[in-house]
Amino acid sequence: MAERSEQLIRKAQATHCLTRQDIAELLGDADCEERLAQAADAVRQEFVGDGVHLRGLIEFSNICRQDCCYCGLRRDNRRIERYRLTPDEIVELARKAKGYGYRTVVLQSGEDPYFSVLVLCHILQRIKKMNLAITLSIGERSREEYQAFRAAGADRYLLRIETTDAELYHRYDPGMSHANRLRCLWDLRELGYEVGTGTLVGLPGQSLDSLAADVLFYQELDADMIGIGPLIPNGDTPLGEAAPGDFHLTRRMVSILRLLLPEANIPATTAMETMVPHGRELILASGANVVMPNVTEGDYRRKYALYPGKICVADTPADCRQCMQGRIAAMGRFVARDQGFRHHRKPNS
Ligand code: SAM
Ligand code: SF4
Ligand code: FES
Repeated sequence: MAERSEQLIRKAQATHCLTRQDIAELLGDADCEERLAQAADAVRQEFVGDGVHLRGLIEFSNICRQDCCYCGLRRDNRRIERYRLTPDEIVELARKAKGYGYRTVVLQSGEDPYFSVLVLCHILQRIKKMNLAITLSIGERSREEYQAFRAAGADRYLLRIETTDAELYHRYDPGMSHANRLRCLWDLRELGYEVGTGTLVGLPGQSLDSLAADVLFYQELDADMIGIGPLIPNGDTPLGEAAPGDFHLTRRMVSILRLLLPEANIPATTAMETMVPHGRELILASGANVVMPNVTEGDYRRKYALYPGKICVADTPADCRQCMQGRIAAMGRFVARDQGFRHHRKPNS
């Protein structure tokens, strides 16, 4: 490993601050990966402890009005079987998630216009009565809609910027506006949500410098959660023939994120495990502290087909809960019992 990388890792661990060029250098040094992960794991332990937060993921509709070039849910994909859960089914899944011991649910979908403010607020109010923290991940909406969801009980919102490179974004998210994506994130911030965002690693043409800019953007936004994952090419999309995102580069980015945003909640994403068996444990040991097991039931899991090879499609919510509990314990960590809000605090002395 280059001496320069060792210096940069020490600087990041001590000051939580690096320049764009420093970050790009570390991202580009494959030999520093283990050392980076070790430093990130120490910072994770110091700032957010050994608890791993489990969030129950409910994939409630795969209908989407957008046409992102990488995603199987895109509007123009005719080869996907569409589904939409009813409000009662969504509330029932949340109730079951609570029964499995989850303290948080993540309601995720394509950009499905059926879920108007009226429909969604009613669902949020019903779930809120169960004393669950609620994360929404349903794409771009107006400030007024975000405000209404917040008032109805949504605590957190996940909206990846995907890339901070506006040109790249417009290439792969046709019909969408990077400026509007930023507007959404800043609105969510101002409305008092815990804001989650992140990068899709491996978009063709994405440079190390661009990934470094993403990290600095997360610092500027003071993101509460950052979920990053590699692109997994989906044959039913325009990026079907693209090279997959680099697992190791993604892992280095997770570690750098932990060093530079020490208090953030950082998930070990499903896409990491789709690429590498036990990839989530590896990422949990490289700076991450959150896992989002699926609580969607039956065939809907398979139909929520962002990319091929998705894990757990034949497993039940109870299987996934038990599986993660065991795997986390085997790492010498534990499942956190609180609702997993970000703690603004100084490191343990
Ligand atoms: N529609 C909402 C949105 O776009 O924010 C939420 C659901 S969307 C399916 C969640 C995330 O899936 C996206 O932010 C994107 O990064 C990721 N994703 C989509 N297609 C992917 C692929 N082929 N490989 C890896 N991740 C993918
Ligand atoms: Fe729709 Fe989200 Fe997929 Fe884009 S990434 S096509 S907005 S589900
Ligand atoms: Fe689903 Fe392991 S997390 S079976």
